[in-house]
Amino acid sequence: MKELKERIVRDGKVLSDTVLKVDAFLNHQVDPQLTMKIGQAFAEIFRGERVSRVLTVEASGIHFAMATAYALGVPFVYAKKKKAVTLSDEVYSVPVHSFTRQETYQISIAKPYLSSHDRVLIVDDFLATGAALVGLATIVKEAGAHLVGVGTVIEKSFQEGRGLLEQMGVRVESLARIKSMQPGAIQFIEPVSA
Ligand code: G4P
Ligand code: NA
Ligand code: NA
Repeated sequence: MKELKERIVRDGKVLSDTVLKVDAFLNHQVDPQLTMKIGQAFAEIFRGERVSRVLTVEASGIHFAMATAYALGVPFVYAKKKKAVTLSDEVYSVPVHSFTRQETYQISIAKPYLSSHDRVLIVDDFLATGAALVGLATIVKEAGAHLVGVGTVIEKSFQEGRGLLEQMGVRVESLARIKSMQPGAIQFIEPVSA
């Protein structure tokens, strides 16, 4: 997505070889026009798939899931993150280990909001190590639903997330794929103009 890549180049800040700060428009201050266009882009990519629900994880996936679900005319559900394991029959729940934060938390979705009849599209802001997205994909499987694919706004292609999801047989579509980055320079897999 050309406009997204231009915006990343203009307003993103590469803090290190692995961390891209996009607080100005994506996950702290949010540009609603760009967010809606991102939702439309995901909706177009997955249009033929008869998606019945969009899933994400709180917090910074929520507005993209909202925009995508709005464009598709379906509901979205965001998994909740909890520190402690609260065992319950009423929720689907899996542990997620965050490598960045060096901690494990639970993500969970109440059973009434995901069923075996669903055709699910997962949406999130970043694809990095993929831990949270693998966790969500695991919940979709546990529910017996069909996972149509994962859409991420920014993929750091040099990290392992895409590989882990593809190993699970999941289709991955990212609107901006970063091959490598250093402070002041970002290389995309596809040129900014594409
Ligand atoms: P993940 O791949 O499962 O998301 O886990 P990881 O441990 O790699 O990332 C931890 C958190 O940092 C995630 O947010 C992820 O979206 C975010 N993140 C990963 N790489 C970058 C980056 O280059 N820039 C920015 N700005 N964020 C990044 P989270 O803590 O799970 O959720 P949220 O509350 O922020 O949504
Ligand atoms: Na996120
Ligand atoms: Na995040």
